[in-house]
Amino acid sequence: MGWPYLGETLKLYTQNPNTFFSKRHKRYGDIFKTRILGYPCVMISSPEATKTVLVTHAHLFKPTYPASKEKIIGPEAVFFQHLAHDTTASVLTWVLKYLHDNVNLLEAVTEEHEGIKKKLVMENRGITWDDTRQMSLSGRVIQETLRSASILSFTFREAVQDVELEGYTIPKGWKVLPLFRVIHHSADFFPQPETFDPSRFKVAPRPNTFMPFGNGVHSCPGSELAKLEILILLHHLTLSYRWQVVGNGDGIQYCPFPVPKHGLLINIIPRNKIPN
Ligand code: HEM
Repeated sequence: MGWPYLGETLKLYTQNPNTFFSKRHKRYGDIFKTRILGYPCVMISSPEATKTVLVTHAHLFKPTYPASKEKIIGPEAVFFQHLAHDTTASVLTWVLKYLHDNVNLLEAVTEEHEGIKKKLVMENRGITWDDTRQMSLSGRVIQETLRSASILSFTFREAVQDVELEGYTIPKGWKVLPLFRVIHHSADFFPQPETFDPSRFKVAPRPNTFMPFGNGVHSCPGSELAKLEILILLHHLTLSYRWQVVGNGDGIQYCPFPVPKHGLLINIIPRNKIPN
């Protein structure tokens, strides 16, 4: 436990989330308590406990935000901040970064889209929903990006009554934080979790281990739209352009979503202007 009010809050919002979570996870295990914005919180990172909180016993854990944050900017603002914070744009930024850093993967993704483009030209039509279902490699790149970047590292719930969870009692009113990022970066479920490897998604992940859009009744209603937008953008981008990261693109910024430093500055070049 940190200081009574600020507790671990500053660290949570400013530190590399991998460092923040994995240090505590190693030290305290799958369930531990801390304080965020003045509230006692229980952090959970086992797939089973996460399923209990978000799905099977969701009625005992209501969606909530730290009240201090609501007091500062208002509850609607907290809600719309999620949308306005451009989750899709952050994921797309990471996709561009990973493809930039993995040239062979970029070429393989481009080939996938060239195949689709050929068909569109032959049939003299525009791209359709069915075409996006054929973008399997691009789909896996998006899945691996969602896992690796885990832009929503965790979410908040609040116990509506005293609840037993894996042998612990969570008192009424305590916040409960399912830690998606810890689960997504656990070597038990994703071998060599720090390696960017879309092929791992050729096999479906174990249930409740991959939750980039949450789980249960409050999971993200925008997930399909977000994936569709990224697929369409990848289609046009990989076919027509190449991009070079300006400077050293390796830093990460936390605000509180992890995004590449300075938003990943890139130079975009039309593909037909690149000398062979
Ligand atoms: C890649 C982009 C996105 C990611 C990673 C993402 C992630 C999430 C996650 C993890 C949740 C669950 C939060 C919780 O359980 O407390 C959520 C909820 C939500 N998302 Fe998204 N989201 C994305 C894009 C979008 C888009 C494009 C929209 C709208 C067009 C959207 C609208 C919402 C709404 C309204 C909720 C609240 C659902 C509820 O409370 O019942 N999201 N999102």
